[in-house]
Amino acid sequence: MDVGIDRLGFYTPKKYIDIVELAQARDVDPNKFTIGIGQSKQAVPDIYQDAVTMAAEAANRVLDDDNRNEIGLVIVGTESSVDESKATSAFLMDLLDLPEDVRAFEIKEACYGATAGLQMAYNFVAMNPDKKALVIASDIARYGIKTPGEVTQGAGAVAMIVSQDPHILKLDNKSVYMSRNVGDFWRPTFSKTAFARGKFSNEIYVEFFTTLWKKFQAKYNVTAADFDTMLFHIPYTKMGMKALRTLEGQIPDDKYAELVDHYQKSIEFSRNVGNLYTGSLYLGLISYLVNGDAKANDNLMLFSYGSGAVGEIYSAKIVAGFDKYIDSDFIKKELNNRKKISVADYESIFSKELENGDTTALSTVHDKFYLSEIKENERLYKLTN
Ligand code: CAA
Repeated sequence: MDVGIDRLGFYTPKKYIDIVELAQARDVDPNKFTIGIGQSKQAVPDIYQDAVTMAAEAANRVLDDDNRNEIGLVIVGTESSVDESKATSAFLMDLLDLPEDVRAFEIKEACYGATAGLQMAYNFVAMNPDKKALVIASDIARYGIKTPGEVTQGAGAVAMIVSQDPHILKLDNKSVYMSRNVGDFWRPTFSKTAFARGKFSNEIYVEFFTTLWKKFQAKYNVTAADFDTMLFHIPYTKMGMKALRTLEGQIPDDKYAELVDHYQKSIEFSRNVGNLYTGSLYLGLISYLVNGDAKANDNLMLFSYGSGAVGEIYSAKIVAGFDKYIDSDFIKKELNNRKKISVADYESIFSKELENGDTTALSTVHDKFYLSEIKENERLYKLTN
């Protein structure tokens, strides 16, 4: 039985800043941010948005009257959760009108969370073929104003429905993984922003890729020639390239050139949105499917990395007719129709937060799902219609 991704939905906030303007405001050569880091725009979430509202927006794009009642498992991967106890998935139950006979919970392991969720969903559907699983990655990447990580912030969510006979991506059930206690990036419970040992985190990311790629080739007796495309976790678009570059000179030049070309297609959306943390790998997948030359039966290698750290490489195959199940025009239109705000406005939004007793002014809401108020220290969410 084939099991994999049947539907893919993406949401990012409607406001963004221009990375050249950010560089100018920080007195940095813009080429460092646009070429050295590889970013062009950065999503800015509004005060009424968080991991819950963005997860709801993305999931709402893949749920319909037919598949909603077939969902038996709901997993949200996030490192931006709004509650230390209640899972992001619990808030989604009524927002998305999900059936009660589901297991709904949250997974945290930095940017690896959604991959853990996807693999659990694979096993769930393999054991319960008449059921589907909803896996959502939702995060706000926040390092803080004037920090080295600021240029690599971003926000958004990716939702996936996992089912038998999937219409987009068949998972091969081939994977290798590794975990190690590493202090490369972390966010203690007292902090709204992440801490990173930036250069060390880059080194660990590349080391995990190199180790896992060797393991994957040995375990399944494959080489780069067996893959049409390699997709990477993309905290910023230069990062995946640093991993891919380890193959230069190790594989035939034309194969390397093909992989680089496909990588460029996979980063187009991330370049214009920023880091989605656990959703980044899956935004790369969407970007490749929308902007690349993906064909039926193409073999993909996916590298997932979550600081702290867990890494996994797995493989998958593109399903014929996948393009009918991704609304490419809608995604492109939505990205093009966002509003650019000034760096000063971004700084002002960044420093604001809804507090206990506050209510969101409805006139400021430009999305379907929003944080309406915090009452008795409880976050309450609503739909605009
Ligand atoms: N023109 C062109 N390129 C320039 C330039 C210029 N004028 N000036 C500098 N550059 C290049 C540098 O040569 C460098 O390129 P390489 O990385 O290829 O050597 C690049 O721009 C960045 O320059 P620096 O290393 O000097 O930049 P920095 O010290 O400001 O830090 C960073 C960069 C470490 C990525 C920082 O933004 C950061 O800490 N980011 C957050 C951590 C992170 O994203 N880590 C990724 C791995 S961990 C992970 O993946 C999990 C996750 O999602 C967080």
